[in-house]
Amino acid sequence: MDYWGALEVYKEMVMLYVEEGRRQINFHCSHLEPWQIIGAAVITTLGAVWMKAFLFQQESLTSRIKKQCFRLIRKIPFIGGAIQSQLNKALDDMSESLCTLKNGMSYTQQLPSKGLSQSQVLEKIKEHQTLNEVPWEKGCVSGAVYWGDESLTKLLVKVYGDFAWSNPLHPDIFPGVRKMEAEVVRMCCTLFNGGPNSCGTVTSGGTESILMACKAYRDMAYERGVKYPEIVAPVSVHAAFNKAAHYFGMKLVHIPLDNKTMKVDVKAMKRAINKNTAMLVCSAPQFPHGIIDPIEEVAKLALRYKIPLHVDACLGGFLIVFMAKAGYSLAPFDFRVKGVTSISADTHKYGYAPKGSSVILYSDKKYRHHQYFVAPDWQGGIYASPSIAGSRPGGIIAACWATMMHMGENGYVDATRKIISTAQKIKSEIRKIKGIFVFGDPEVSVVAIGSDVFDIFRLSNALTSEGWNLNTLQFPSSIHICCTVLHTQKGVADQFVRCVREQVAIIMKNPKEKTTGMGAIYGMAQSIPDRSLVTEISQGFLDCLYSTEVHKTNTNHMNGNGKAH
Ligand SMILES: *Cc1c(COP(=O)(O)O)cnc(C)c1O
Ligand SMILES: *[C@@H]1O[C@H](CO)[C@@H](O)[C@H](O)[C@H]1NC(C)=O
Repeated sequence: MDYWGALEVYKEMVMLYVEEGRRQINFHCSHLEPWQIIGAAVITTLGAVWMKAFLFQQESLTSRIKKQCFRLIRKIPFIGGAIQSQLNKALDDMSESLCTLKNGMSYTQQLPSKGLSQSQVLEKIKEHQTLNEVPWEKGCVSGAVYWGDESLTKLLVKVYGDFAWSNPLHPDIFPGVRKMEAEVVRMCCTLFNGGPNSCGTVTSGGTESILMACKAYRDMAYERGVKYPEIVAPVSVHAAFNKAAHYFGMKLVHIPLDNKTMKVDVKAMKRAINKNTAMLVCSAPQFPHGIIDPIEEVAKLALRYKIPLHVDACLGGFLIVFMAKAGYSLAPFDFRVKGVTSISADTHKYGYAPKGSSVILYSDKKYRHHQYFVAPDWQGGIYASPSIAGSRPGGIIAACWATMMHMGENGYVDATRKIISTAQKIKSEIRKIKGIFVFGDPEVSVVAIGSDVFDIFRLSNALTSEGWNLNTLQFPSSIHICCTVLHTQKGVADQFVRCVREQVAIIMKNPKEKTTGMGAIYGMAQSIPDRSLVTEISQGFLDCLYSTEVHKTNTNHMNGNGKAH
């Protein structure tokens, strides 16, 4: 009774307020004409719609305001001019150091009017081989070439030659290539413990594999009625996810890492999940620090919120599947983990196949269907294509198949054992050196090095001048070595560790000294607040790659990459 009584009183009070509100509004509007009231209502509504569109865009308001401010700064006469001239100077320097030919060389600007003979072509090719300056075969380069074994090369060249003209777009004409692609996918599904419904496709590389997974999950989100699908991924994921977001109109939500382990912060990931989330991502391992994300924990989130989970094993896929047999145990990372719906793995990295091949695998065929593209009404016929490319190189697929068949499980397990033991040795030796540290506890092939005492890019400079070619990383500043079969050659790892030890000792004598050369440029690039400048310089870099203007310089120019011995 009490409850109903209270409700009655409450209702009466509300009515009283409504009545008072109505009276007030009418009173204040009594001097207005009806057209004024209607006009104000229309303008307010339009204003509210505009405001909503302005505030809630895919790019956040703060990020847009920041960009606009930098755009304005560059319009200020004096400052804008100074920035532009600095930019031009940086671009000139870059083009000079990147695109220098040897004396007597020139660029071909047009087709030879009469075709060269085969021996003339081979002669010209030799000229291009002499431009090689980095002896990667010796194991002085991080990643890049994962093996390069001579007898394997012979096999690949033979198989590529046999299938050079084939194209899986025409399975009726090239049934052999179709069979090989299907088998590469099946062998990979088996390696990652896929069930009977697991499937996938061969792609042109890790980036395409990742693009395809994002495209599939975007389309699934669209089907759910999501307008702006989001990729929720650790900040350490490969830039191919930025590319996917950019190409496919998605938003990439970066989740921070635990700064001790360098694994993604699962709690932060959980908080970032919303109704727009199209997919979650983990890396096994990630590129910057070689760390495997907590896949089992993230998979629990994926199951709980019914969101697909992609595991990016592009880099280390063909190591981690063999590590148990090679004597190194890992937490489960593949389709055995419930919730993992897709995996990308690069056959052209530790699969040792030639560049231009990778696989994208799914736990179920329904995901792969969202990857496909079909144009049922094309004048050229019903067009169905599994991935980005139309025509595809059958020769590369054949060479990939041949590599996998030739390596076999024993070959891969042996290579994995050698690589992991080398990386582990480098990790434990680097940890003993005072002044530097290893990021997290890398379990696979990448070891990332940082320093709390000096600018790590000074070490990068020093190692470069000693002939080592490492990767430089940013946010936080670090460098890494990605061990390949080439680093397992006798003495290479010892030489590397010795060199690091010596150079760190030299730097530690004067830890606060200023960084110079390329190292200073990496440091500066991180500290430029206007990221559009960095983008502009990088576009200039890409332009340089296509430059066919001759820069006349001496043979031993300063490019921070000289191998002084
Ligand atoms: C190499 C790599 C990729 C993609 O590589 P591609 O260069 O396109 O083959 C994706 N993720 C990680 C972690 C990688 O190391
Ligand atoms: C890690 O994060 C904590 C808390 O945010 C911070 O205090 C600490 O300095 C960070 N450590 C490193 C190495 O960045």
